[in-house]
Amino acid sequence: MTLKDQIDTNKVPRHVAVIMDGNGRWAKKRGLFRTKGHENGAKAVKQVVEACGEIKIPYLTLYAFSTENWNRPKIEVELLMTLLISSLKKELKNLQKNDIRLMAIGNINELPNKVLKELLEVIDKTKNNKQLTLTLALSYGSRQEIIKTIQEISLKVKNNLISPENIDDSLINNHLYTQNLPDVDLLIRTSGEQRVSNFLLWQIAYAEMYFTETLWPDFNKEDLFEAVLNYQNRERRFGKTSEQLN
Ligand code: IPE
Ligand code: IPE
Ligand code: MG
Repeated sequence: MTLKDQIDTNKVPRHVAVIMDGNGRWAKKRGLFRTKGHENGAKAVKQVVEACGEIKIPYLTLYAFSTENWNRPKIEVELLMTLLISSLKKELKNLQKNDIRLMAIGNINELPNKVLKELLEVIDKTKNNKQLTLTLALSYGSRQEIIKTIQEISLKVKNNLISPENIDDSLINNHLYTQNLPDVDLLIRTSGEQRVSNFLLWQIAYAEMYFTETLWPDFNKEDLFEAVLNYQNRERRFGKTSEQLN
């Protein structure tokens, strides 16, 4: 039986989030510029998006560029932005064909104009697609997102639009960039690092974590299926006892 056949299609994670890490090391191992790692990382994105479509995962969120990544050498940042523009241009056709909706989370106004324009265009053109919601985290930092949320809510309290007692889970959710997304069920990080790096801190409260040594450009459909199978073999107790669940 293939890995894919072993997946229980009634129990797939609703929301998978991925910290796509290891592009630089992948390139270094081959004596290539980091650029090449990012280019091959884009190919892995295609694989994972297709795999999610095949097993009907409805939400996929990819950490593509963090707030902290702005501190990388200017040349690398520029290259990543250029790669983003070309990928958006190239993939629009496939997104439409496969009924995939593109969304973005993060402080996207910080992106160069050319990137922002392309991004907003693809988001708009795919807004009625339904099979999979693919969200790119761009110029994203979870603490910054939480700060923004607190500022917006404080302002509403100050203006007497809400009172502090109204602040609950759902109100906070509604002010996050991820307001239209369900909580993360499965968080994957490649390249052997076992940290969250300022990604979706609120949204992963009860996510299952999956770490793999595989470097992002090598990550393929089979790796995604393996992660989902691993997830399906876990018991999510949400604070309860095992007996209570059965
Ligand atoms: C992930 O790969 C891509 C981005 C953060 C944009 P890295 O570029 O972080 O690769 P490593 O961690 O240096 O190998
Ligand atoms: C996290 O990877 C950000 C993305 C994958 C876009 P980094 O490579 O930037 O994370 P750290 O700095 O090693 O934690
Ligand atoms: Mg890295």
